[in-house]
Amino acid sequence: MEWKEIRQRARERLQGYCRVCPQCDGRACAGEVPGFGGVGTGSSFRANYESLAQWKVNMRTIHGARDGDPTLKLFGYDLSTPILGAPIAGAQANLGGAMSDAELTAVLLEGCRLAGTIGMAGHVGEIALEEIKRQAGRGIMIHKPLEQAKIIAWGRKMAEVGAAAFGIDIDGAGLINMRLAGIYVEPKTPAQLAELVQNIPLPFIVKGIMTPAEAELAVQAGAAAIVVSNHGGRVLDHTPGVAQVLPAIARRVKGKITILTDGAVRTGVDVLKMLALGADAVLVGRPLIVAAVGGGAAGVKCLLERMTGELVQAMILTGCKTLADIGPHLLYQEEL
Ligand SMILES: Cc1cc2nc3c(=O)[nH]c(=O)nc-3n(C[C@H](O)[C@H](O)[C@H](O)COP(=O)(O)O)c2cc1C
Repeated sequence: MEWKEIRQRARERLQGYCRVCPQCDGRACAGEVPGFGGVGTGSSFRANYESLAQWKVNMRTIHGARDGDPTLKLFGYDLSTPILGAPIAGAQANLGGAMSDAELTAVLLEGCRLAGTIGMAGHVGEIALEEIKRQAGRGIMIHKPLEQAKIIAWGRKMAEVGAAAFGIDIDGAGLINMRLAGIYVEPKTPAQLAELVQNIPLPFIVKGIMTPAEAELAVQAGAAAIVVSNHGGRVLDHTPGVAQVLPAIARRVKGKITILTDGAVRTGVDVLKMLALGADAVLVGRPLIVAAVGGGAAGVKCLLERMTGELVQAMILTGCKTLADIGPHLLYQEEL
């Protein structure tokens, strides 16, 4: 399946929701939430794209790294790539019904598994449970920050089907879509976070961390991982870009907690940059929806393999044999 054809098919099916632009940078869809855009002026989505683009990579060619190995171990799984599927929900409102939540979740999780990685499911209840069961546990549900008892009940159900991990998008506390749907969401106190970690027998992920202080609070609560993320710029206007805040967060918590991140990761070089800035692995959102709508699970697999190929190429051209070789030294800093 050709990536160009997949994009063309998605463009036809997503009319009015996503234009499938040459650069998925949040300009054309600014303010389109529900939809594919960033909230308000769209500045947080654009900041993700721009902050990542501003980092430049040192090309290195005199070394012995003839091949790059993009594999890693995460949540007990051997993964073929450090690229995971981000949780996506609200298909009716955001995709205009091009796919239902059930179809989208199935295709994303299946495509990720076929590519040798793991997909996340959004707040889609029984659909997530059934799909993660069907994928023999290879999937992670990211629940909305509802009342404690509801989250704990879902975390335990996910443990019963052997999910790889479980978490909440703590930044969902401000999501317009939730308010429109009349669903109660709340920020969580450090004590509430610790209560979730203690009562859910799976590695716990806190998605939506943008400051070193909050990353430290997630560590203290006992979380297994954070996702440094502003929700693709969909919850709060005028945040910095993720690639701006990631280095300081990594300096504070690297090695104490798994650091995942997302926000305008579009190519294998973007993945390399995020790892160089301190992430252990990345999530991809909008481009995977395009791949799912345009090509089903095969489309998702195609995009993940394409980006992983680009990552390997970038590893060779920066002298990295393994992901562990990727570090801040790959990023260009002007010598004064
Ligand atoms: C249409 C759409 C729906 C989303 N639904 C969810 C969701 O249900 N839960 C969640 O944690 N994040 C959700 N996100 C955010 C993504 O998981 C991810 O953080 C973001 O899309 C990453 O940025 P990128 O799309 O630029 O790669 C959604 C994003 C989009 C575009």
